[in-house]
Amino acid sequence: MMKLRYLFISLLFAGVAAAQQADDLFSFIPPGGRTLLEQALADGDPSLSESFASARTSTEWLERLSLPDSKTGAALDDWGRQTLADYLAYTGAIGAVTDLPSDGRDIMLARCQSCHIITVTVTQARSREAWLATLGRTSHVEIPISEVERSQLADYLAVNAGLPIDVIPPELRAGGASY
Ligand code: HEC
Repeated sequence: MMKLRYLFISLLFAGVAAAQQADDLFSFIPPGGRTLLEQALADGDPSLSESFASARTSTEWLERLSLPDSKTGAALDDWGRQTLADYLAYTGAIGAVTDLPSDGRDIMLARCQSCHIITVTVTQARSREAWLATLGRTSHVEIPISEVERSQLADYLAVNAGLPIDVIPPELRAGGASY
């Protein structure tokens, strides 16, 4: 019986990995800063590339993205601008952009699915402080995730989580938790 159970679990994980590669199953989850920045760079926004030389806070980035010459800022909604500003604050002075670091969404997909389904996380609307408290609970303290990653994850979730259940694919709704 034991063996069958493990076979089932590994099949389940193979399925999750395959879905992540295609990124279809999770496409309902709003893009993180890395993806937004990749899109902006592909669109060739000169005001953005010029700004990379200096490190800025999230508030400063948000102001930069809200200026009329910001093609990227104009293409995004409030949530997108905030998500990108938060991400850029972590990446600091980027200079030449080659390998972009993970964003809060990447961290969530990598670290928040092994004990319960992603739905448990993305349907909760919480403040940044409340997310940090969630991550500090006994159930979560053992998760291998650095202080900076926690902070990035909390930023991303505070802006982007709280998704309504009807945008969650049916296969991610039932049997939500295995804990
Ligand atoms: C090591 C296993 C484990 C991992 C990995 C894990 N969780 Fe949990 N999570 C739990 C357990 C156990 C519970 C139920 C007990 C509780 O509520 O603390 C839970 C419950 C939750 C809840 C619902 C309870 C609440 O706080 O309202 C949320 C939201 C949550 N987790 C978010 C996350 C996020 C975000 C991550 C990724 C950083 C994550 N979890 C990764 C074990 C885990």
